[in-house]
Amino acid sequence: MAHQSEELIIEALDLHKSFGDLQILKGISLQVRRGEVVVLIGASGSGKTTFIRCINLLEDIQGGRIRVNGRAMGYRERSDGSLVRDSERNIARQRRDIGMVFQRFNLFPHMTALENIIEAPIHVLGTPRAEALEQARGLLARVGLADKASHYPSMLSGGQQQRVAIARALAMKPQAMLFDEPTSALDPETVGEVLHVMKELAEEGMTMVVVTHEMGFAREVADRVVVLDQGEFIEQGPPEQIFSRPRHPRTRAFLSRVL
Ligand SMILES: Nc1ncnc2c1ncn2[C@@H]1O[C@H](COP(=O)(O)OP(=O)(O)OP(=O)(O)O)[C@@H](O)[C@H]1O
Ligand SMILES: [Mg+2]
Repeated sequence: MAHQSEELIIEALDLHKSFGDLQILKGISLQVRRGEVVVLIGASGSGKTTFIRCINLLEDIQGGRIRVNGRAMGYRERSDGSLVRDSERNIARQRRDIGMVFQRFNLFPHMTALENIIEAPIHVLGTPRAEALEQARGLLARVGLADKASHYPSMLSGGQQQRVAIARALAMKPQAMLFDEPTSALDPETVGEVLHVMKELAEEGMTMVVVTHEMGFAREVADRVVVLDQGEFIEQGPPEQIFSRPRHPRTRAFLSRVL
């Protein structure tokens, strides 16, 4: 989008990830600049979720480097070049820089929308309650839910819950947001309202990596579309290039199935 700079917010370098003997990510690299919106597409099982989870250290990696906002995430390098996982405490601190929104909303069911949003700022960042409340009300307004502050998740539609989840992630003032199929569990009529909020976020300059099957969103909002196939990035470029002139046969095959 318009706000892009040269500053790298997310850098994944030569990531290797296996589950047991099964190699899932085969040495993939991605650099995301501040303000950039990267949409990640690819067939089911290609490793999209795994990649997103690795960036946020929800998965161990067997090789490679991750830097967020210029800082190494989760690993220290020994003198022999091997990687040692950082302490959980340090990892938790680093993870705060990245907001994550999943397919399932994962709101705390026993808390209202407002309480869901203030929980982490108060308990993790130590924000004073009054300040957290004011900020949360602002965030609810930003996602179009100013009137739902005291609703519990069960009283909200899927799309509304997902917008609360986005507001909750934003309350931590993240450097970047990762979305893993944020609309694929929603009723079709509520997909648009969530994509709308995401589009506004992008326009405001948020750095975003979005896994989605919403090709209309990708076309309209992405600065760059990256195609993952069997654990490798096979092609990337601006949306019009990927959708109108895909080069790789497996990109063409994938697009012909989803478009
Ligand atoms: N915890 C796990 N243990 C073992 N294998 C796993 C685990 N998580 C994922 N996998 C395997 O890793 C591969 C990639 O899975 P991943 O969920 O990253 O794919 P995806 O691209 O997100 O697919 P989808 O579009 O269906 O969400 C799959 O073969 C999957 O079975
Ligand atoms: Mg997935």
